[in-house]
Amino acid sequence: MPTNLKGRSFLTLKDYSPFEIRYLLDLSRDLKNLKRAGVYPKRLANKNIALIFEKASTRTRCAFTVACHDEGAHPEFLGKNDIQMGKKESIPDTARVLGRMFDGIEFRGFDQRVVEELAKWSGVPVWNGLTDEDHPTQVLADFLTIEENLGNIKGKKLVYIGDGRNNVSNALLIGAMKMGMHYTVAAPEVLLPTRELRDWAAKVAKETGAVLELETDPHKAVKNAHAIYTDVWVSMGEEDKPGIKERIESLRPYQVNSALMASTGRSDTIFLHCLPAHHTNGVHDMEVTEDVIESPASKVFDEAENRLHTIKAVMIATLT
Ligand code: CP
Ligand code: NVA
Repeated sequence: MPTNLKGRSFLTLKDYSPFEIRYLLDLSRDLKNLKRAGVYPKRLANKNIALIFEKASTRTRCAFTVACHDEGAHPEFLGKNDIQMGKKESIPDTARVLGRMFDGIEFRGFDQRVVEELAKWSGVPVWNGLTDEDHPTQVLADFLTIEENLGNIKGKKLVYIGDGRNNVSNALLIGAMKMGMHYTVAAPEVLLPTRELRDWAAKVAKETGAVLELETDPHKAVKNAHAIYTDVWVSMGEEDKPGIKERIESLRPYQVNSALMASTGRSDTIFLHCLPAHHTNGVHDMEVTEDVIESPASKVFDEAENRLHTIKAVMIATLT
C-alpha cells in the first residue's frame, strides 16, 4: 500500500499508523544520507513555513529552519511577542490568516488544544513542535537514533526514568506502543503516566504486541534495557508551580548515573536525552550525571542531529 501523507497534520503519533511511522523513519534515514552526500533536491521549493514558538527552543526551531533552507522553503519565525494570537486575535482567526499565506505551520506552546485548533482552522498541515502534553517530532528522532545503534525498534526495551507524565515520556509511550516496543517508565507513583494514557496504551498494545510497564524502582526497571532515556525534572512553564522543590527531591533516586546504566546487565545499552539537559544545578547532579552523558553510550548529539532529518521528513511527507 503506497503511503500518502500529503495534507495531514502531525499533532500526535496517536494519529499515525505503525506503517506511516515506519515510512517517516525510512524517509528520515534517506534524507540524512542525501544530506551527507551533499544532495539537496529542493522538494519544498516556493513553500512558506510559519514557525510559531510560545516557548524557547534550540533544536526544534533550528531543525525546522535548516530543513526549510535545505529543501528550498522559506521559514518565518513568529515568537510569542511577534503575533496577536491568543491576545488580540483568536486562534481560529489567526489560523485562517496564516493558512492563506503559508503552506505549513509549526506550533510550540502550552496547550495541546491550540495546536489542534490551528490544524482545524488553517487548512494547511500543522506540526506539533511540543506542547505540555506531547512532543511527537522528538520521538521520530529518538527512534531513528535507536535504530542507527541497535537495529529495528520493534521489540526493543526503552526505559524512561524521571518525570514519567511529561510531554516527552507521553510521546515516547505513544510511539513505543504503536511500534511494538517494550516501554518501561520508572518514576515515583505520582509521576507515572495518566490513567487515560495507560488505557489507550492497553488497547494499542493488543494490536501491535507492545508492552507497557510501570515501575517505581529504577534499578529493577532498567534490567535488560536497550536504551535508557531521561528528561528534565521540571519542564518549561512549570518552574513556578507549587510543589516543584518536593518533586525534585522525589526524583533524586531516579538520576541516571553509572550504577543505573550498569544495572541493565547489557553492554550495548545506549543513553538518550531529548536535551536540553541539566547535568547539575551547581550543588547536585540532576537527572543525569556528567560521566553518563559524556560516555560512549550517550547518543544525545546524534539524537539532536536527527531532529533535523526527521522534521524534514515530516514536512516533505505532508507537503508534497
Ligand atoms: N529537544 C527539544 O525539543 O529541544 P528544544 O527545546 O531546544 O527545541
Ligand atoms: N520536557 C521538556 C522537554 C524539552 C524539549 C520541556 O517541556 O521543557
